[in-house]
Amino acid sequence: MKNIVVLVSGGGTNLQALIDAQNRGEIKGGKITCVIASNAEAYALERAKNNNIATRVLVRKDYPDVHAYSKAMLDALNEEKADLVVYAGFMTILDETLCRAYPNKMINVHPALIPSFCGKGFYGLHVHEAALSKGVKVTGATVHFVTEVCDGGPIILQDTVPVLNGDTPEVLQRRVMENVEWKILPKAVSLFCEDRITVIDDKAYIDLENK
Ligand code: GAR
Repeated sequence: MKNIVVLVSGGGTNLQALIDAQNRGEIKGGKITCVIASNAEAYALERAKNNNIATRVLVRKDYPDVHAYSKAMLDALNEEKADLVVYAGFMTILDETLCRAYPNKMINVHPALIPSFCGKGFYGLHVHEAALSKGVKVTGATVHFVTEVCDGGPIILQDTVPVLNGDTPEVLQRRVMENVEWKILPKAVSLFCEDRITVIDDKAYIDLENK
């Protein structure tokens, strides 16, 4: 069984989707063993506690700089013996030591079709504001491995939703979450835990044979 550590900052609906999938037996070969929040007020912590999952809080402003914060996060992940680290709405910047220590073992869910609307400054509702302001007709979400390039690591899964007339950022965010994020994140986690993802030349390939 792989130890899955989930990093969160806010409401934690993606964490909830992972917990629900785990409770339905859909995370094969892995178990959520710890949730680490960057914010003591994150509702995601309640979701973890309600499901008897261990929690930790690491607040950025308790550390002098990004490197000290990243070192504390690395120590926590090592103590938790993480096999997979999932960024589920984790909004705090970490330095390159993390993805170097956990190469192709950290995955992130991003609420757009990478390479659109991603990189620095594109997070949360801002992503959907940007999609609406460009007038795209489809959007979606992406699960990818975390590398030193922000939102630039190998893409594992993507799926789409339509953008409809009259959408607000909030309405579009909800459509992307419900129809895409809450499905592809648990699926990617299960694929990882079953050793069904291979990375070659910075591209992720899924083993579809081994069902
Ligand atoms: C989600 O839409 C997630 O994709 C996004 O923040 C939201 C967190 O919601 N993440 C990013 O924008 C990261 N760049 P949640 O706390 O309810 O899972």
